[in-house]
Amino acid sequence: MRAALLEVQGQPLRLRDDVEIEQPRAGEVRVRIRHCSVCHSDLSLADGTFPGPVPIILGHEAAGVVDALGPGVEGLAPGDPVVLTPCPPCGSCYWCVRGEASTCTQSQGIQTNALPDGRTGLSRGGRSIYRGMNLAAFAELVLVPATGAVKIPPDVPLDLACVIGCAVQTGVGAVLNTAGVEAGATVLVLGLGGVGLSVVQGARVVGAARILVSDPVAERREIAKRFGATDCLDPTTDDVVARARDLTGVGVDYAFETAGRARLVEAGLAAARNGGTVVCVGAPPLGEAIQIAPAALFVVSGKKLLGCVLGSCNSVRDIPRLLWLWRAGRLDLEGLVTSRRPIDEINQAFDDLAAGRGVRTVLSL
Ligand SMILES: NC(=O)c1ccc[n+]([C@@H]2O[C@H](COP(=O)([O-])OP(=O)(O)OC[C@H]3O[C@@H](n4cnc5c(N)ncnc54)[C@H](O)[C@@H]3O)[C@@H](O)[C@H]2O)c1
Ligand SMILES: [Zn+2]
Ligand SMILES: [Zn+2]
Repeated sequence: MRAALLEVQGQPLRLRDDVEIEQPRAGEVRVRIRHCSVCHSDLSLADGTFPGPVPIILGHEAAGVVDALGPGVEGLAPGDPVVLTPCPPCGSCYWCVRGEASTCTQSQGIQTNALPDGRTGLSRGGRSIYRGMNLAAFAELVLVPATGAVKIPPDVPLDLACVIGCAVQTGVGAVLNTAGVEAGATVLVLGLGGVGLSVVQGARVVGAARILVSDPVAERREIAKRFGATDCLDPTTDDVVARARDLTGVGVDYAFETAGRARLVEAGLAAARNGGTVVCVGAPPLGEAIQIAPAALFVVSGKKLLGCVLGSCNSVRDIPRLLWLWRAGRLDLEGLVTSRRPIDEINQAFDDLAAGRGVRTVLSL
């Protein structure tokens, strides 16, 4: 099959036509990818911000149609349209039975870049290829555990549905699931890419009263306004923490770090009111750390700091839920997709993301 391979970190991706993919085994599904958009986590692996094994196929924000089923898979049939998820819940592990599906053992593929049994199902010329971000969807076909392919109604355009896979599950889920933001709350969003803009939309869905946003890119601040932001800040000219405290009087109820900069987690903690919550959604380079004085930030002021894998979503529950919100006109997927390109132009799509041009580029296979 055809796939975009990262053979050396820091170098462009290369399209190859001779990648081999296995037949699905018991409990697995093979999906024909139609569209896959580019997330910053792909870029961080491609440019070497995060260490990663090579050769690897990236891409984890995808939609397609079921191609083949392994033995024992129920509820799916060849031809079914599906949205893929990097966190397919098994339903029975330590985490799943506690309702924490996004940290299911089957999600560890995000770290191992392999299937749960350790193989990748991908190779070229006899050499194994890693399965980037637990999916490897910049390719014509992918192999996933059955819950990794969530069936959607046939009338949903797949070139919009793909962005639900990561950006929307993560951003809206961070609001609904991770933080549990309530109506009337004040929210600050630091970073307005596909993920941060989805946090803005989630905040609007739950009825947040004030949605403050910050990003150096003017175009993204404008889109945020359309998505429900009430106050737009430019971190290159505004003192974001001081403005957030000013605008709310006491500091924000919730701050979301969605840029992938450790020092913005500190900014979020400074902007949060006593008892407020900061959610770390962005993934800063491994070498970046945050400094916390526990007595001041936690003991005296009772602030809370939360981690977030894929918006704490159970994808089997949340992908249909997010599509219902889109159908109801409460979630704008169209506005997140600012560019469409054939897979041959994948490197230009990565360049656009790195430069902050547009929001999401959807690649077609
Ligand atoms: N937790 C998860 O499960 C999860 C899932 C998906 C992505 N991520 C991570 O989330 C982050 C965002 O992903 P994305 O695809 O939206 O990225 P993106 O590159 O599209 O957006 C990042 C935005 O941050 C802005 N930014 C940079 N410096 C800033 C500053 N000082 N203040 C405010 N904004 C600033 C950029 O201008 C850009 O608009 C990445 O680190 C990504 O790896 C995490
Ligand atoms: Zn992602
Ligand atoms: Zn599980």
